[in-house]
Amino acid sequence: MAKGAPVLAGLDIGTSKIAVVIATAGRGFPELIGAGKSPGVGINKGVITNPDTVARCIVQALGKARKTAGVETAFAYVGYNGSGIKVRDCRVTENEEILQLIPPRMMRESVGAGFERAARAITAPVDDILKIEQSTRLAGLKVQDIIYGPWAGSRVLLTQAERELGTLLVDIGAGTTSVSIFDRGGIRETSVIPVGGEHLAGDLAVGLRISLARAENILKNYGTGEVEQFLTALSPGNDGSRGLPGDPVRSIIEARLTEILELVAAAINDFKYYGLLPGGVVFYGGVSRLSGLKVMAESRLQLPVRIGSHETAGFTPGLEPAYTNALGLVKYGYALYREKQHINERKDRFRDKFLSWF
Ligand SMILES: Nc1ncnc2c1ncn2[C@@H]1O[C@H](COP(=O)(O)OP(=O)(O)OP(=O)(O)O)[C@@H](O)[C@H]1O
Ligand SMILES: [Mg+2]
Repeated sequence: MAKGAPVLAGLDIGTSKIAVVIATAGRGFPELIGAGKSPGVGINKGVITNPDTVARCIVQALGKARKTAGVETAFAYVGYNGSGIKVRDCRVTENEEILQLIPPRMMRESVGAGFERAARAITAPVDDILKIEQSTRLAGLKVQDIIYGPWAGSRVLLTQAERELGTLLVDIGAGTTSVSIFDRGGIRETSVIPVGGEHLAGDLAVGLRISLARAENILKNYGTGEVEQFLTALSPGNDGSRGLPGDPVRSIIEARLTEILELVAAAINDFKYYGLLPGGVVFYGGVSRLSGLKVMAESRLQLPVRIGSHETAGFTPGLEPAYTNALGLVKYGYALYREKQHINERKDRFRDKFLSWF
């Protein structure tokens, strides 16, 4: 690690977990030096409901990351993807804060021919942003910037060509599913739907009359031998009261997944996006690892589907998928940091030139 190099943290506050990665900005690229995560408590559908509890969870995750990094972090780039996210033309009410400015895009007028240029912004409820700042500050970190989660995720999931040509990025997490269209290098449309893995686990718990913890375990192991064993134990011969015909786990999961895919299709429809999507759909988030998702999604969305991974994008092998957004945050944060540095250098050069005139 370069001596005196600034230390950046990417902080993903997800509904089910907090993930932190730490990197240094010394050598012209972000050098990953630590990572840690903890269960998320006090977060509902991506929105902080209890800042004190969340602060404690951040401290826990940060402690683990700092242990491997061996340094104290200075500032954090924090992700947000609650369902209060909106994309709109640049008119913002006093209760909303702009998260990301979308570069001007060509918008087709609903009436008449011709096109009109308009700037667009991704906005989030001010209350949600204040709670992120509060929790992060309570955990002892300085918030450098708050960044829209899928925007950060795209940095380690999508190729440059996918971001340029038109690709749909879908993050199915625990409490939210975000759907975003990328083209010409930026997000064109986005929407956060309040459904995710929690609903799949809830359905399994109710349908199979088991605890939520066990249902979550089944969900994570779906498609492996462990679930087959569990099903054998539930078969009518072994437990008449609980016995369910056929493959109950599969029917419950497929039913809820079909509903989630219907909501994704409806969101795409609502975008009224006129471009093509040659990049197809890239899924990520915990639920994207569900066996059978690719086939179901291809059939429902009628687009080629791939399951995204920061590893296949050549970024930090060995770090589990739960860190994808945190990695994206630190990568994008680093780009912002470099940009700011260049501006400052230009300002310094201008000041020196100006002073040399006297
Ligand atoms: N292998 C797997 N198969 C299916 N589901 C899984 C698997 N692994 C994790 N999950 C589910 O994914 C969810 C967690 O995913 P993720 O870490 O992306 O969510 P999050 O970031 O905490 O939530 P959100 O983005 O909605 O705020 C949980 O509901 C978990 O049960
Ligand atoms: Mg998430």
